[in-house]
Amino acid sequence: MGISILGAGCCLPQQEVDNHAFESFIETSDEWITTRTGIHCRRISDGILTYQMGAEAARQALKDADTAPEEIDMVLATTVTADTTTPSLACLAAAEVGIKTAPCMDLNAACTGFVYALDVAEKYLSTGSAKKILILSAEMMSRIVNFKDRSSCVLFGDGAAAVVVGPSDKMYHSWLACNLDGRYKIFSKATNSENPFRKKDFDWPEEVAEMQPGLMEMAGNEVYRFATQAMPEAVQRCCEKAGFTPEQLDRIIPHQANLRIIRTALKHLGLPEEKVHINIQHYGNISSACIPLSLCEMKRAGELHPGDKICLVGFGSGLTYGAAVLEW
Ligand code: UT7
Repeated sequence: MGISILGAGCCLPQQEVDNHAFESFIETSDEWITTRTGIHCRRISDGILTYQMGAEAARQALKDADTAPEEIDMVLATTVTADTTTPSLACLAAAEVGIKTAPCMDLNAACTGFVYALDVAEKYLSTGSAKKILILSAEMMSRIVNFKDRSSCVLFGDGAAAVVVGPSDKMYHSWLACNLDGRYKIFSKATNSENPFRKKDFDWPEEVAEMQPGLMEMAGNEVYRFATQAMPEAVQRCCEKAGFTPEQLDRIIPHQANLRIIRTALKHLGLPEEKVHINIQHYGNISSACIPLSLCEMKRAGELHPGDKICLVGFGSGLTYGAAVLEW
């Protein structure tokens, strides 16, 4: 049993922020950001909420899939930057598009979220528990980015993308993992309410004790090293499960964290850049929304053809990583 992507949609905030815009408040340059990351621009929310971006992406995906809201059996949302702790992003976005009773839940696997969600969806579809599932990935990274930290604030952007998936007999395989030794390497503490009963500070592990709640901190170099080996490993292992080699893939859709990470991963795999969809220059890193956004762009551009073997591969906080290969 496999999975069929029936429709896709996306939504990006209107505000476009180029690298020069950072030069006025941190010590950086367009040249540094471009050469070290490949990023030229990103979109940053000027008021639109995460669930509103998710809902717009979902609306487009439903339309593209020619699917009515009532036909959706489940909504899976992926995010690390929901507007609310409760209810879920999935509930808020689904209600906006007219879904009334389908089960809705959020899944947090950071930037690997879409790959994880696709895998969960495939399990529901393959058992017949669901016929159509809406997966929406929406992120407002600007909500947790520390704009005083030049090594991370230039990397991220906001946006959302969604797909409607259904069962199919086409090929599908996945390989998911975590490297939990790296769990503190990309970290953002929850904020806390005032509480008259708590007299002491929380006893956080010393690695993260000094971090400020609500802001993200990242050990960039260590994540970089992890990513350059994790992405090739995930692609290789997933292809192994599928019974072919990475060279036999037609397209690779990687998480967009740094152009240099993508290029190094490709080099390890011995694959040419033409097989890879790259849009980091326009949007930066939108966490779990990167991969479905690429899917949406490629689908709209007619770049995916029936029978193509495509590989989605991501890594992120956790440190989660993983890949899925599917036939288009
Ligand atoms: O979804 C997953 C999330 N995260 C990632 O994927 C991040 C992975 N890591 C990376 O992409 C890279 O490690 C970074 C882009 C974060 C950093 O690039 P790098 O080439 O590894 O630079 P570096 O950290 O080794 O820093 C080199 C220099 C340092 O200055 P000194 O100490 O050599 O004087 C940094 O302070 O570059 C400096 N630097 C900057 N300079 C100008 C760091 N950020 C900036 C900046 N502008 N924005």
